Amino acid sequence: MKKSDYNDINDEILRELRAHLGEDNVRVDDDALDEYASDETEDLAFPPEVVVFPRSTKHVSSVMKIASHHVIPVTPRGGGTGLSGGALPIYGGIALTVEQMDRILEIDQKNLMAVVEPGVITQELQEAVEKVGLYYPPDPASRGSCRIGGNLAECAGGPHAVKYGVTKDYVLGVEAVLPDGTLIKHGGKLLKNSTGYNLTQLITGSEGTLAVVTKVYLRLIPYPRCRVTLLVPFPTLESAAHTVPAIMNSGITPSALELMERDAIKITERHLDVTVPNSDAAAQLIVELDGNDESVIEKEAERVCEIAMEEGASDVLLAESSSKQNEIWDMRRATGEAVKSLSVYKEEDTVVPRFNLVPLLTGVKEIAKRHGITTVCYGHAGDGNLHVNILKMDMSDDDWRNNLDVAITEIFELTVSLGGTISGEHGIGYTQKSFLPVAFKTEEIELMKRIKAAFDPRGILNPGKIFPE
Ligand code: LAC
Ligand code: ZN
Repeated sequence: MKKSDYNDINDEILRELRAHLGEDNVRVDDDALDEYASDETEDLAFPPEVVVFPRSTKHVSSVMKIASHHVIPVTPRGGGTGLSGGALPIYGGIALTVEQMDRILEIDQKNLMAVVEPGVITQELQEAVEKVGLYYPPDPASRGSCRIGGNLAECAGGPHAVKYGVTKDYVLGVEAVLPDGTLIKHGGKLLKNSTGYNLTQLITGSEGTLAVVTKVYLRLIPYPRCRVTLLVPFPTLESAAHTVPAIMNSGITPSALELMERDAIKITERHLDVTVPNSDAAAQLIVELDGNDESVIEKEAERVCEIAMEEGASDVLLAESSSKQNEIWDMRRATGEAVKSLSVYKEEDTVVPRFNLVPLLTGVKEIAKRHGITTVCYGHAGDGNLHVNILKMDMSDDDWRNNLDVAITEIFELTVSLGGTISGEHGIGYTQKSFLPVAFKTEEIELMKRIKAAFDPRGILNPGKIFPE
């Protein structure tokens, strides 16, 4: 569908929205339209015509009924930290932010579960459950401002996915509002469920295109009491990447296994005005080990040191205190933002089977060289998930335009040829949709479109996302 297939917001629609949500929860002022025009994706901005702030499932249902009746596009939004443009209201219409639905409804210590509204900030949930000895591991770099609803929409990951899995591995059930306003429920506080199609998992990762989630049932696990973090410099990018499967195949499962190439570290150092040890090394691995037995973790750390040294590491820095560990993680979490502040850029989120990380990295660098583009690579190496940032720097606008899509297509074709796919945790959203055919054949895309049409026959919920035009 295209913009002209939808109706514009008019006074009657605004009156209806205000009657159901209350005056204060419906905004059309420039500040609101401006704020909800963007997420964290590049410098893209598409202002909505109205922003709504539902405070209940009933509000969400009313908004969807009104939108469905008048054929208005609705773009749902969590914290607005997405990196593929999933929350951009590209056809205007209604921006629906779940930020006022931010209650942790229950932390069920008996069953190790939490029930939350979609607007809960991820880090706030993590801190609340940690207070009672529990752990919610998925931690995208934006965890301080992203919200569970957005994490669910994009199936967010983060550094701890290598041991603990991504958002979908914790979502056990949802309540959600369909585009026509109908409330549906699926799953719940259930660790097993073979009853019918798994709508929970279909909605999870659907980028807000199938339903607006209003309640989420999440699995929790016991909080690991001990943790050490290692920062390991390598003389070449390849030797760092090569060490990743060597660690994973040694019988140890680190709780994080991240790779950063030199430029990623240098750019972050400058951005934060901090000094990172060994920052001249070609690449560094961040290896974290956690558990409940300090002596086990110490032994595992020793073993990781040995493996790293055998693979050519020039040093191993051990951070035992939580303040030293936080310094490393603050640096790592700021990398995306640091790269973004440096240049016009394009962010890719390739993922391959872990053992193919070396050919992916080598191939990306070769493709970049051939097209004269600058890449900065970092990411969740333990998951085979590499963030490839393509920087414009001082390239002319013409060269940038002419080379970018060709280079990205080549990088994605390489990724797929290595058994991988084009997004591991950021989603397809708006910015990656033209590349979807690199990952899927026509019949597969058509099947997904039929699923979309079954949920949303009028095509009003987050239109213009995922599927190529
Ligand atoms: C990160 C974000 C970009 O890993 O996914 O920092
Ligand atoms: Zn990431």
